[in-house]
Amino acid sequence: MSEKARENFGSRFTVIMALAGSAIGLGNIWRFPYMVGEHGGAAFIIIYVLCSLFIALPIFFCESILGKSTGKDTFGALESVAPGTKWKNEGYIALLGSFIIVSYYSVVGGWSVDFLIRSFMNDFKGESLEEAAGVFHNMNASVWEPIVSLTAFLGLTAAIVAIGIEKGIGRFAKVMMPLLFIMIVIIVVRSCTLPGAGKGIEYMLKPDFSKIDGPAIAAALGQGFFSLSLGVGCVLTYSSYMRKEENVFYTGVWTAIFDTFFAILAGFAIMPAVFSAGLEPSAGPSLVYETLPVIFSRMGPLVPIIFFLAILIAAVTSAMSMLEVLVTWLVDQKGLSRKKATTLFFIACWIVGCVCAVSPKVFSICDFMSSNVFMMFGALVFALVVGWKMKKEDVRTQFTNYGTSHKAGAVFSVVWFLIRWIAPIGIVIIAITNVL
Ligand code: PHE
Repeated sequence: MSEKARENFGSRFTVIMALAGSAIGLGNIWRFPYMVGEHGGAAFIIIYVLCSLFIALPIFFCESILGKSTGKDTFGALESVAPGTKWKNEGYIALLGSFIIVSYYSVVGGWSVDFLIRSFMNDFKGESLEEAAGVFHNMNASVWEPIVSLTAFLGLTAAIVAIGIEKGIGRFAKVMMPLLFIMIVIIVVRSCTLPGAGKGIEYMLKPDFSKIDGPAIAAALGQGFFSLSLGVGCVLTYSSYMRKEENVFYTGVWTAIFDTFFAILAGFAIMPAVFSAGLEPSAGPSLVYETLPVIFSRMGPLVPIIFFLAILIAAVTSAMSMLEVLVTWLVDQKGLSRKKATTLFFIACWIVGCVCAVSPKVFSICDFMSSNVFMMFGALVFALVVGWKMKKEDVRTQFTNYGTSHKAGAVFSVVWFLIRWIAPIGIVIIAITNVL
């Protein structure tokens, strides 16, 4: 452990922007809007909010409490609250989870670099959907192109992380996140005023409670975990850089509000445009890299630029948080300098990223494993450690910030019950539902 005073994010605004930066990412843009439409519109949004409130947010609090109270990396935090036990081994699983996610996530981040450059060159103008699909397939088939873009994306992420917590990650997030909101609002306005946009709005909002079944609830929870970056130590690590007077309750609630609000905005940016073009919505790469470039380029040359810049910012701020989990571990546990640690993990993630870039099979295994195995397992461990290993009074002290937050004090008993019972039971049921 280095004896130097631990860096911190500085202001509360910076912490919230950094956490929101981690939370708001590809999950909000390419999965959430589609999931909402498929699983019953507003009915799904209600279920999503309930799952986030009763399961995901309590886990967020657990990670935040572990990080802030110990001021250590995932491994060190677990060792501090449950010394001499096996719980700290979750630290390795969280490291592996973050490592795998940042590697394949960087491939997708790389595509957005590529598409941003194409947008600047007005490449999509007048293209048909088939041609756009061809562009995406050719890009991936070329092998070197996705690798060059992956290198640019990961390089940018690593450069910011190498600068440090306050001057690197914090400063980038506090400037870019407000910009990201402005950009998405511009697209929402453009998109919702197109002829025929009403159908897209209806797709997002029309409640259909008959579609709310077991799989829909499991999907809502899985999405909530992915979106709030839970279970792989990101929230824990960022929280370890909070100032002592910071408020875990407040930062958690605001992060969740921004994250959900942004996901809904992304839906209103995308779906009305898709329907107005007379197309059927889809999710994932085909939506963002095949359908949307064509639709957005019809709305003017600036729209694709704004859109891919928004995706790039959202993806970089999320990738930073995963890389930071790895870097903090090397710095805290192995005593490496931040720059060395970042360089080492840049190289390691780049190698795995290259494999993901050329092998769609490895890519989808990484995607599946991260959200279904690593995140769920990690979230369960964090809930059990805080709920059953820490003393109730210690958790209360941390949650209410030494009794100074009256609002946190007022909800503590409910949160404590959620952490001990509802969150772990919920995770186990969902995990079983996913396997069956
Ligand atoms: N929350 C990010 C998103 O929605 C993804 C992420 C997962 C980030 C896990 C960090 C850790 O895209």
